[in-house]
Amino acid sequence: RRQRHIYVAIWFYIATFVTIAVLHIFNNLELPVSAFKSYSVYAGVQDAMVQWWYGHNAVGFFLTAAFLGMMYYFVPKQAGRPVYSYRLSIVHFWALGFLYMWAGPHHLHWTALPDWVSTLGATFSIMLLLPSWGGMINGIMTLSGAWDKLRTDPIMRFMIVALSFYGMSTFEGPMMALKDVNALSHYTDWTIGHVHSGTLGWVAMITFGSMYHMIPRLWDTQLYSKKLITVHFWLATIGILLYIVSMWISGIMQGLMWRAYDDFGNLQYSFVESVAAAHPFYVMRAIGGVVFLSGMIVMVYNCAMTISRGKAAVGDMHIASAQGSAA
Ligand code: HEM
Ligand code: HEM
Repeated sequence: RRQRHIYVAIWFYIATFVTIAVLHIFNNLELPVSAFKSYSVYAGVQDAMVQWWYGHNAVGFFLTAAFLGMMYYFVPKQAGRPVYSYRLSIVHFWALGFLYMWAGPHHLHWTALPDWVSTLGATFSIMLLLPSWGGMINGIMTLSGAWDKLRTDPIMRFMIVALSFYGMSTFEGPMMALKDVNALSHYTDWTIGHVHSGTLGWVAMITFGSMYHMIPRLWDTQLYSKKLITVHFWLATIGILLYIVSMWISGIMQGLMWRAYDDFGNLQYSFVESVAAAHPFYVMRAIGGVVFLSGMIVMVYNCAMTISRGKAAVGDMHIASAQGSAA
């Protein structure tokens, strides 16, 4: 069978599975020295570099590519419109794959890694902003001409907010990849805030939107409650905001406290003082996490009720068709 082209969502899925396998194999190359012991083939800083080549591409090909696959399929489906630009989606795919591969060194700034490798990683990270934003714009513009859906369709809201967080974290990432910014942000909660604006804001939100789209179709029914989706949407959004805002504040505060000197050239704060200062922000993060989690409980309830209604509908269909064939 001849196939003219494969839709871009599938390209992203293929990239996810192939790349994760390649990363896993090369990161784990080891030389056995006895039956139960082996050593990594990489030594010292090269080992660290290979591990962050793995680590950053895990962000790129697991936490990003797989979910972009979902975005490219479910956003057009839910919007009822074709993807804004198919050509842009292909540029997005190849540029993302090429640039992600080189960005790993930004995790190892100011270490034993040669300076030029750090600079290379920072340069590729800045370039990565372009395809990332191309993808975000492609997703958001798929809605052009149907903006009213944002008011009427709570599932669409999940998807658009997910894309906005994708845009935000892929703007923040390149900034943090600059050596001078990283000197402040590294080791602090800023990184943790960045992680969760990506994982909660982008990965979780696009997953929720896709599941709300898919579940009623799988069980051939309507969603139990649209109102509960809106409740979930707000709980998730508020939870994420509490999480990342608290981590931004505590992260920048930690970075500044650790580098503050007094008039005599001594460090102004001990480490434990910075931990104590971060305490209120950890409480705020915990509240954010609980709010986010409660949104997920609402989702589980809504989906369970949808599925139970769906089963009834499928059962009715069987009865109806059995009666039809008996008649
Ligand atoms: C253009 C895209 C992006 C760039 C250039 C980028 C850059 C960075 C930088 C510079 C760091 C801090 C490294 C450090 O100081 O240790 C970081 C950490 C991290 N980023 Fe991103 N980021 C991007 C997008 C994303 C997205 C979309 C996600 C998640 C979906 C993500 C997940 C993470 C994770 C999990 C870490 C923490 C790694 C660790 O455990 O240390 N990033 N990123
Ligand atoms: C309610 C939801 C969540 C809460 C409350 C939460 C909380 C946390 C906490 C407390 C940490 C440790 C931070 C530290 O070392 O100071 C963490 C780390 C991390 N979380 Fe989450 N998390 C949530 C959801 C997620 C999700 C859905 C993902 C992935 C899709 C994720 C990915 C990560 C990663 C990659 C790290 C390691 C970051 C690093 O060490 O640089 N989290 N999370």
